[in-house]
Amino acid sequence: MDVPSEFSSFFQRALEIKKIALSMKNPLVVHHHDTDGITSGAIVKTALRKRGIPHRMKVVKTLDERAVEELRKEKEIILVDLGAGNKMVNELGDVVIIDHHQTEGIEKPQLNPLLFGIDGGRELSSSGAAYAVFKERIDLAIIGAIGDMQFPFKGLNRLLLERAEEEGKIRVEKDLVLYGRYSRPLVQFIVFSDAPYIPSLSFNEDNVVLLLKEIGIETEKDGRARTYSELNSAEKRKLVSALVEVLMAKGKERLASKLVGETYLLMPSEVIKYPMDASEFSTMLNACGRHGKADVGVGFCLGEKGAKERAEELLLHHKRMIREGIKYARTSLNDFGPFYFLDGREKIDEGIIGIVCGMLGGLGKPVFGIADSEDGRIKISGRGTVGLIEKGLNLGGVLRGCSEKYRGIGGGHQIAAGATFPKENLNEFLLCLEKVRQ
Ligand code: C5P
Repeated sequence: MDVPSEFSSFFQRALEIKKIALSMKNPLVVHHHDTDGITSGAIVKTALRKRGIPHRMKVVKTLDERAVEELRKEKEIILVDLGAGNKMVNELGDVVIIDHHQTEGIEKPQLNPLLFGIDGGRELSSSGAAYAVFKERIDLAIIGAIGDMQFPFKGLNRLLLERAEEEGKIRVEKDLVLYGRYSRPLVQFIVFSDAPYIPSLSFNEDNVVLLLKEIGIETEKDGRARTYSELNSAEKRKLVSALVEVLMAKGKERLASKLVGETYLLMPSEVIKYPMDASEFSTMLNACGRHGKADVGVGFCLGEKGAKERAEELLLHHKRMIREGIKYARTSLNDFGPFYFLDGREKIDEGIIGIVCGMLGGLGKPVFGIADSEDGRIKISGRGTVGLIEKGLNLGGVLRGCSEKYRGIGGGHQIAAGATFPKENLNEFLLCLEKVRQ
């Protein structure tokens, strides 16, 4: 890959990290449980497997004290999509870190775009960094970036995307950005649109059926439900115009203008038989990881038998939980001044509290949500917007700072961050979040 000079020192460091990682005899690969963590883990696994290097895989939700304790007995560790934000890793054996989270005080060898002036929150995910190291599975690097919502693709992400297109792994198209273009029956495609939420159509099947009838689009062909991808271009145009009209009539011009955008289609490979929308792949991986089955996600990435079917089941469960979480959040969101607050304890699973907060976004302030975590601790997730970052928001910094003060462990990115802390510190922790004001 031709590398522009602005990225040459990053790729130089990637080579050094590759050398260290591939010199390990039997490393434990520790990766995060979300889409970017799963794809990163799968990239590392591909590289080790190809070279016959024995290794083991371990998924970690949060690299907290307990997780670090369990790693103390390990001689060689490759940390991917985690490690950058936790100085405790300095106490471990031979460690190499490939991460894009905010970092401070790490003495172990690390590849992190942030250390090279590359925005790890928006311009390179961990799977992109893992690709830079091992040059394996560029499709997974793109899926990881999508999982971390690094839109629009720019900087190093854009370079990787162009490379993936050149290699015929991905096709970039301008199209409707709703989820399920290739996989969902047309009616469900619109009914289950929650990002964006289309007033009067989302979660209203009768209205969707009526709209499709009005614009003359058949929902079935040869006794089988059609998907959006099976419509001809005139039908697609008609549908897009109708959806834009609905949003405009409700005063949602901004959403209407975002209805069509860049979409990424994964080309058939040893992993998938048919073209598949990369964001659908990404959501399936997230569904696996957020519900304790990141190993299924890694298996799916690697094309292992039965993994896709299992991931599809997990996706159904995931979508149902998100729908329920959003429903609850709509009536339970509190305005706490500098931010909105959602108390999801006993209602929303800790694995999806961040996703729910993200879907409530666009309210002009950051959204924080809490859920029950293990051992009586509390999980908190924060989500912001690009507009808020431009005004100085840094959720990763805030959650890391408050965690240090109140016996928690936290960090992340400017736009999305998380932490866990003891429940007796809840009030102090929430007061500490006032810092998002700055
Ligand atoms: O868990 P959640 O989805 O809210 O996490 C948002 C972002 O913050 C993720 O990128 C995650 O890796 C990061 N995070 C972190 N340290 C934590 C919790 C989350 O760096 N303790």
